[in-house]
Amino acid sequence: MSRALGLAAYAVGCSLVWAMAWPPPAVTQPLAFDHARHAGVACGVCHAGVESSSRAGFPPSAVCVACHASAPGQVDGRAWEALSRAASSPWTPVTRLPEHTWFSHRRHVALARLDCASCHGDVGRRTTPPPRNPVRLAMSDCVACHRHEGASEDCAACHR
Ligand code: HEC
Ligand code: HEC
Ligand code: HEC
Ligand code: HEC
Ligand code: HEC
Repeated sequence: MSRALGLAAYAVGCSLVWAMAWPPPAVTQPLAFDHARHAGVACGVCHAGVESSSRAGFPPSAVCVACHASAPGQVDGRAWEALSRAASSPWTPVTRLPEHTWFSHRRHVALARLDCASCHGDVGRRTTPPPRNPVRLAMSDCVACHRHEGASEDCAACHR
């Protein structure tokens, strides 16, 4: 009984800490990328790691320049110049797990064949970048799906 109470108090404590850290500060991306306009391009063209590694990754500018030799649409020429000269991918992730957790896209996309939307909501159909993670993936969400799908509920599977 006291063990159950202890666990319950701990869980409430964790969710309080989580709630106080929410929402995180807004992120500004180098330009207003429009996913909906790129609906004909497979997600993996720009997020090359989804099937093969832990990180989905962001597109290096060479991927954009391969289709857009010059600034597309309403994009300012100088902003496009800066983007196309960037040595590494200039995009900032909004979805981040704490250091003590382990997550792999390959496992969920290539093996479990889950839809991106089951964890990221409608990001792939948005017309502007989300300033914050639109979907809050808490431990309880991970564990709820794992229970439903018969995947591991071992603490050590997600905490390494
Ligand atoms: C496989 C080809 C392809 C790649 C790769 C690609 N685009 Fe595009 N992009 C398009 C096409 C096609 C359109 C035009 C869609 C339309 O007319 O509705 C477009 C339109 C745009 C527009 C204009 C939207 C508007 O307001 O009219 C912007 C901005 C843009 N892309 C930015 C990027 C960026 C940034 C990257 C790299 C992260 C990128 N694109 C990668 C094919 C591509
Ligand atoms: C032409 C390149 C391109 C394609 C195709 C593309 N994305 Fe993206 N994606 C980006 C860029 C650039 C960003 C960062 C700016 C933003 O958030 O819009 C991004 C951001 C994201 C994020 C936010 C990551 C985070 O930190 O939370 C998700 C989720 C995402 N994309 C999912 C998808 C899905 C799902 C598809 C396919 C339906 C897709 N993307 C197709 C270029 C692309
Ligand atoms: C089972 C849940 C889940 C699924 C399915 C999923 N993601 Fe993610 N995604 C995450 C989590 C969790 C993170 C944060 C990872 C971290 O911080 O280590 C993330 C991060 C990202 C990022 C930020 C950059 C990075 O590499 O961390 C992009 C882009 C992204 N996902 C795109 C996609 C796309 C595209 C798909 C579908 C092909 C997809 N994700 C499917 C949970 C998921
Ligand atoms: C399916 C994956 C998964 C499993 C299984 C899992 N966790 Fe977690 N856990 C997470 C993720 C993701 C977070 C970070 C997000 C959050 O705080 O909700 C987290 C956060 C935590 C935290 C930190 C809470 C905080 O306030 O930062 C603790 C402590 C923890 N887990 C303990 C455990 C224990 C003990 C087990 C086994 C009974 C376990 N976890 C099983 C994914 C998992
Ligand atoms: C929508 C369902 C779903 C969600 C949400 C989900 N997972 Fe999973 N996860 C799965 C399935 C299904 C597998 C088994 C994949 C396979 O066949 O290997 C899996 C496998 C894993 C594994 C490998 C376990 C092992 O056996 O070693 C880890 C680690 C993992 N998930 C972490 C996470 C974390 C962390 C989160 C939350 C941020 C999360 N998952 C959210 C469905 C999900």
